[in-house]
Amino acid sequence: SRTVGRNADGVATVGGIDVKTLAEEFGTPGYFLDEDDFRARCRAWREAFKGEKGEKGEKGEGEDADVFYAGKAFLSRAVVRWLTEEGLNLDVCSAGELATALAAGMPAERIALHGNNKSTGEIERAVEAGVGRIVLDSFQEIARVAHIAQRLGRHQRVQIRITVGVEAHTHEFIATAHEDQKFGIPLAGGLAAEAVRRALKLDGLELIGIHSHIGSQIFDTSGFEVAAHRVVGLLKEIRDEHGVELPEIDLGGGLGIAYTSEDDPREPHEIAKALRDIVHRECDAAGLAVPRLSVEPGRAIVGPTAFTLYEVGTVKELPGLRTYVSVDGGMSDNIRTALYDAEYSVALVSRSSTAEPMLSRVVGKHCESGDIVVRDAFLPADLAPGDLIAVPATGAYCRSMASNYNHALRPPVVAVRDGRAREIVRRETEEDLLRLDVG
Ligand code: LLP
Repeated sequence: SRTVGRNADGVATVGGIDVKTLAEEFGTPGYFLDEDDFRARCRAWREAFKGEKGEKGEKGEGEDADVFYAGKAFLSRAVVRWLTEEGLNLDVCSAGELATALAAGMPAERIALHGNNKSTGEIERAVEAGVGRIVLDSFQEIARVAHIAQRLGRHQRVQIRITVGVEAHTHEFIATAHEDQKFGIPLAGGLAAEAVRRALKLDGLELIGIHSHIGSQIFDTSGFEVAAHRVVGLLKEIRDEHGVELPEIDLGGGLGIAYTSEDDPREPHEIAKALRDIVHRECDAAGLAVPRLSVEPGRAIVGPTAFTLYEVGTVKELPGLRTYVSVDGGMSDNIRTALYDAEYSVALVSRSSTAEPMLSRVVGKHCESGDIVVRDAFLPADLAPGDLIAVPATGAYCRSMASNYNHALRPPVVAVRDGRAREIVRRETEEDLLRLDVG
């Protein structure tokens, strides 16, 4: 993150506080998040999607695109307040995320509801709250949302999520635009066109656009370009068949971040330019008015803003192999290495060391040999129990995917800003665990 440094003693600092002080105050493991960095990234996304000088989106404010932060990456009430203040919108994908957003005062019209299997209760809550859009994911859901909106006497603004048949170059589990998976309605075989036909017919629905999300941790804009091309193609079909020009398209999230020095992420303004250029070009070619664009970055906003701080426990050298460095957390606070073979870096942060680098594997304390945090890393050979090590870029999909495996207590998220640190999600306690165990 942007405000991480080292003080004269070689101790890492964030937002003006050193990590030893943070560990003493909040314990380990913990996620430490740089609030200024989070806000700066929100602003960078907003700026990148601001309209040209003089150009005004229909919704005004000089912007022709909306940025929806994907709450699944990490959501808390503080995060919702930061987003609200920085002018972002929010994508939620469950009743729990919706409740968090509303509890923290995000205006409902700035919220979009996603999900491939929204319950009736979730849809009702969203429609009653007046969310800005529901992204429809199946034929059954088109009918279900229409029915609920009619019953509640509402006109719900909706988009239809389609799969455009793009192979995003990312891990299979996080690629979402090929056809053989659970999200969206395939463009192929005329299915998306049929979904549009149904949605346009139903009272209670106001179809405002088409949605496509091609996957996550993507570095190359070509997948987005193909997606934009195909989405605009569908808009043209819709115009030709129904005489209606849908006013919005959403091209999803998925922009990759640097987990290690080998990753080379695109900046928000690069992605904004690529998306705009292609949408403008395709619309001009099709004779369509340019629709209002929206995007849904999660990881690219919150991922780089936090690191996980661990205390080193057992250091076990296996001669000729490597050294296993055990930390006080593991797959319960970062499942991504085990689940996606994700790569992370790690550094000794509680002191400096001039010792030789040793080939290490950072592992957790869970009863599972796949409980790996960092598969291959070099740490100084004098690493010892009690040292603090940090794994950067854990702001996205670590706390939000954390578990209580082995009755681990999920770590706190601590926001650091201007030399002040405060928990925005507190550490779980044994009482929290036992409260759920009613038997
Ligand atoms: N929009 C939609 C409809 C999505 O499904 C997602 C992510 C996003 C936006 C945000 O994508 P992002 O910009 O954060 O890549 N747990 C996985 C990632 C799964 C993402 C699911 N959907 C991970 O840890 O990498």
